[in-house]
Amino acid sequence: MEAKEATRGTDRVIIFDTTLRDGEQAPGAAMTVPEKVQIAHQLARLGVDVIEAGFPISSPGQADAVRRIATEVDGPVIAGLARAVRGDIESAAEALRGGRKTRIHTFIATSDIHLAAKFGDARYGRDIAEKQRTVLKMAVDAVRLARTFTDDVEFSAEDAGRTDIGFLAEIIDATVEAGATTINIPDTTGYCVPLEYGAMFAAVRNRCALPDEVVLSTHCHDDLGLAVANSIAGVLAGARQVECTLNGIGERAGNASLEEIAMILQVRADRFGLKTGIDSRLLNPTSRLVSTFSGFAVQPNKAIVGRNAFSHEAGIHQDGVLKARETYEIMRAEDVGQTVEAIRLGRHSGRHGLFSRLKRLGIQVPDSEREAVYRRFERLADQKKEISDSDLHHLVDAPVTGGDVPHFKLESASVSVGTHQEPEAHVRMRHMRTERMVEGTGTGDGPIDALYRAIDHAVEERHDLVNYSIRSVTEGADALGEVSVLIDMGGPCFAGRSSGTDVVLASGEAYVSALNALAAFRAEEESVRFVGDSIMRAFDTPED
Ligand code: KIV
Ligand code: ZN
Repeated sequence: MEAKEATRGTDRVIIFDTTLRDGEQAPGAAMTVPEKVQIAHQLARLGVDVIEAGFPISSPGQADAVRRIATEVDGPVIAGLARAVRGDIESAAEALRGGRKTRIHTFIATSDIHLAAKFGDARYGRDIAEKQRTVLKMAVDAVRLARTFTDDVEFSAEDAGRTDIGFLAEIIDATVEAGATTINIPDTTGYCVPLEYGAMFAAVRNRCALPDEVVLSTHCHDDLGLAVANSIAGVLAGARQVECTLNGIGERAGNASLEEIAMILQVRADRFGLKTGIDSRLLNPTSRLVSTFSGFAVQPNKAIVGRNAFSHEAGIHQDGVLKARETYEIMRAEDVGQTVEAIRLGRHSGRHGLFSRLKRLGIQVPDSEREAVYRRFERLADQKKEISDSDLHHLVDAPVTGGDVPHFKLESASVSVGTHQEPEAHVRMRHMRTERMVEGTGTGDGPIDALYRAIDHAVEERHDLVNYSIRSVTEGADALGEVSVLIDMGGPCFAGRSSGTDVVLASGEAYVSALNALAAFRAEEESVRFVGDSIMRAFDTPED
């Protein structure tokens, strides 16, 4: 449904997914452009109405992600974020150019606290009242400018949750008058409680002259654990768009979780009488994809998509569920894409077994990727006795980093550790273009540190490791470990990921995939001199 078709009176709630923008703002959740495009396609299959694909002015990578998603992903409206300034709006419009259904989402801070801090300079006004005039004018100008590029414009009053209601109503009236078609009322700091947040929507509806086609939107952060409850309170008070993220990832404690909002409205349709366009069976696969690419594990007891969300441990519960599911279950695992599977998959399973299980899990593998997926399955089946559904999700979601053709490949790695011995590592790496092999050795504070020093030695360049995380993505002693790293070279950070049953090797591969992302970035930026002087030199110069 087009956002402009919605009215406050309808029973349809627009799901505005901001996993790729606010979600990605979570520290350490950086995703590559190909990963974002893959998630956006999955969000379209899931049935979200709007995808906020990024904040184009903030970096070339963000602009590129918005550009690619706007032109490649069919179905949802694609939104780009912009502060209420000309440069941001033009940059969002440029990134969205060529998209079929696009929205510019512009925002400016409205609370006294923000006005005093962000617009402290006297040129914005000498006191809060004057600063409010300036901000109101900036908001109106921004919306008018945005409307010259698209007729779908959203305005957000940042920190609305702590904004004076009189000024909030005034800026909403003014931006609607200027052409805003969606008005978002964010609880930017996660400060509100549900009664208050709902009351703010009721007050806005009372005070403002809102045409029916203007959609009110919630946008809640989870600092007090109330993001979902607040969003629902907003909906009860007339909001018909909810801004949310998969797995609730986002700034600080995160955003309202999409899967929880969707299932509250679905399971309690008796109470709310509202609908979304979400295909709930795809919630779990989508959650896993986001978890893999963001590197943020989903806690086992997470509502809807947690591993334990549908397992019954206590005997009395198991007994009850066996007699009648609804004794302890308010929704079925299958309804949210969690499957309990009787057939075991292992090294003897063929293509048919694999792809029919994937189909039941709601995972579509394009024909062009089936062979590669099957080969990954065979490799994993050689390492694990039994392949679980989590393994399969992981197998299919295997991250794409560092461009299509990697620059480097880790051929072998060995690490030795001992009680009275400094950890030592040795690696052999191949430069894929020249086929040259180089070797490196390193010692470090621990085995992973030693391994990374050995890789740096091999590529003749030292990298700062900003973040290293490892998590078990499947169960058992032979569980798959997934490693995410973030490296820094004094400019943008580069993410790398890998997984395997051998976590030391997976750690090495994750680091090399981050180096590949860095090398691809440099190649793209045509930093040939820089590349030649550093990493590439290690491989390109002929041997004496
Ligand atoms: O939390 C917030 O206020 C935001 C705005 C940009 C909508 O993310
Ligand atoms: Zn936010």
